[in-house]
Amino acid sequence: MSIFPDRFRLDGRAALITGSARGLGWEMAKGLAEAGAKVLLHGRARSRLAPRVAELETAGRDAGAVCFDMADRAAMAVELGNAGPIDILVHNVGERDRRPFAEIDHDAFARLIDVDLVAAHALVKLLLPGMIERGWGRLILVSSIVGDLAVPGAVSYATAKGGLSAFARALAAEFGARGVTCNALSPGFFATETNAQLAVSPAGERQRERCPLKRWAEPWEIAGAAVFLASPAASFVNGHTLVVDGGVSATYLG
Ligand SMILES: NC(=O)c1ccc[n+]([C@@H]2O[C@H](COP(=O)([O-])OP(=O)(O)OC[C@H]3O[C@@H](n4cnc5c(N)ncnc54)[C@H](OP(=O)(O)O)[C@@H]3O)[C@@H](O)[C@H]2O)c1
Repeated sequence: MSIFPDRFRLDGRAALITGSARGLGWEMAKGLAEAGAKVLLHGRARSRLAPRVAELETAGRDAGAVCFDMADRAAMAVELGNAGPIDILVHNVGERDRRPFAEIDHDAFARLIDVDLVAAHALVKLLLPGMIERGWGRLILVSSIVGDLAVPGAVSYATAKGGLSAFARALAAEFGARGVTCNALSPGFFATETNAQLAVSPAGERQRERCPLKRWAEPWEIAGAAVFLASPAASFVNGHTLVVDGGVSATYLG
């Protein structure tokens, strides 16, 4: 059996990548499209999605977009109900709240858990039945190394991300036999637009030093891991959290 590169191809599959107008979501969408998948981009503004869809189409890729806020489950159901079959879900939306514990009240905590974790449950509820019916599916939940390694000032975010990895394992245990695998993808420090200020701050410099590779990751460096987890090459990878952090979480001191 040929392993490379055919087993990394995604021709004939449709992939939804949430939060894909920019950052890691956009990079993973480009990678999945290059591997042959039809990609559905997602975000809260059609005006930000349309140029991205056009960019993919100009490159000869098959692309579309769905638009809803993760907090709006009715809109989520309508948009995904009209989207056609989806074989691969990369759930990438993740809002942050970097305030200290004392400043995060109950409502703010609950809201972030809802958008980052409970919304993943809603997405899976909508997409999993079709995957089971077709006997093939890939669920990839974007977590964070902060879900396993604590840092001050990330209490709600870390709780949600740790929950996503546990959710991935629970789904893997329950649905593997139905042809659907579920894994988490755990990025370290990536120099996305959202992290631009952090990356050049003293805290960002400390992260650079802490990393065995002595740098932040470039956003495109997440794409290969997502393509792998989505592909036939990962057919026996299930319930895993794939860490892409340059070795930060493997080491005690940089
Ligand atoms: N960058 C890193 O270093 C890093 C490290 C560890 C984990 N992660 C995780 O990786 C994922 C992507 O990170 P990133 O830095 O690329 O993120 P980002 O730049 O903040 O992008 C997030 C995307 O999510 C969308 N989004 C945000 N809130 C949303 C909501 N309520 N409903 C719908 N869409 C929403 C945004 O779309 P619109 O604004 O267009 O609507 C945006 O395209 C996140 O889950 C993050 O926690 C990132």
